Amino acid sequence: MVASKKKAGDGTESVYAMSIKKRSRFRGLDTNGKRYSDQQAMWSAEVGDSADVERRGELGWYQKAKEYWTNVEPTVDGMLGGLGKLSDLDVRTSTGFIRSLEKVEFDGIALDVGGGIGRVSKHLLLPLFSRVDILESNQAYLEESKEYIGDPRLERRICAGMEDFSPETGRYSLIWIQWCIIYLTDADLVRFFKSCTAAVKPGGFVILKDNVCNTGFVVDKEDSSVTRSEQYLMELFAEAGVEVITSKLQGDFPEHLFPVKMFALRAKGP
Ligand SMILES: C[S@@+](CC[C@H](N)C(=O)[O-])C[C@H]1O[C@@H](n2cnc3c(N)ncnc32)[C@H](O)[C@@H]1O
Repeated sequence: MVASKKKAGDGTESVYAMSIKKRSRFRGLDTNGKRYSDQQAMWSAEVGDSADVERRGELGWYQKAKEYWTNVEPTVDGMLGGLGKLSDLDVRTSTGFIRSLEKVEFDGIALDVGGGIGRVSKHLLLPLFSRVDILESNQAYLEESKEYIGDPRLERRICAGMEDFSPETGRYSLIWIQWCIIYLTDADLVRFFKSCTAAVKPGGFVILKDNVCNTGFVVDKEDSSVTRSEQYLMELFAEAGVEVITSKLQGDFPEHLFPVKMFALRAKGP
């Protein structure tokens, strides 16, 4: 479960350039204690060779996460792995972060990615923006979101996985992505961030708020997810042509959790 993951043994960092693709290599481990010499070894083990027939391995990776969430109750506590009590602080910090950004078009539409039942939509985005859409792969959460949010300004409830979705170009003033990119493979994360930063209106922002481990990566075998270090994420952003405008650590969360960080992102200029 995302919010409650412990930061025990993140693996040791190993950053050295690969001769061909110029990617760094990050060491990591999974929750069964298996260690990986680099991310490629992990992805080969998890999703198989990229030449796999019709992405069978990747679909298996996504299927496991889907099944995991099917069994999680549609409540704030469910969304936060039993840490619903952190929601108010989380939202307060996020509100301050958005307000600190320059010239956000509050008179526009925000997209809540991996929105679950709409905790972020209800408490963070709707108080700030005129209208909100939610993207969520679990249909039951989307159904619950209508009643949970209880606001007609919730416009589109889009049932799709991030791996299959590209936001409508020019529709959004802000795209908020919280506690869900751990479910994306590297290739899909790069594609998704490319499509989000290309889709926001001029001057708009894509904001990622998520756990970061201190070094390398940690795979959770229970829900098929990967928590990446900030350095690993930075490389994926660079590959996506995405620039970090500003970032901020979430303060005052319990010590035993992964650090949580917010990144305000935009497509890199020419
Ligand atoms: C930890 S919850 C976070 C919910 C919400 N962002 C919040 O902060 O309250 C993760 C959410 O991501 C959704 N999710 C998992 N994999 C996804 C995918 N591939 N595409 C879209 N949503 C996904 C889950 O169904 C779940 O609602």
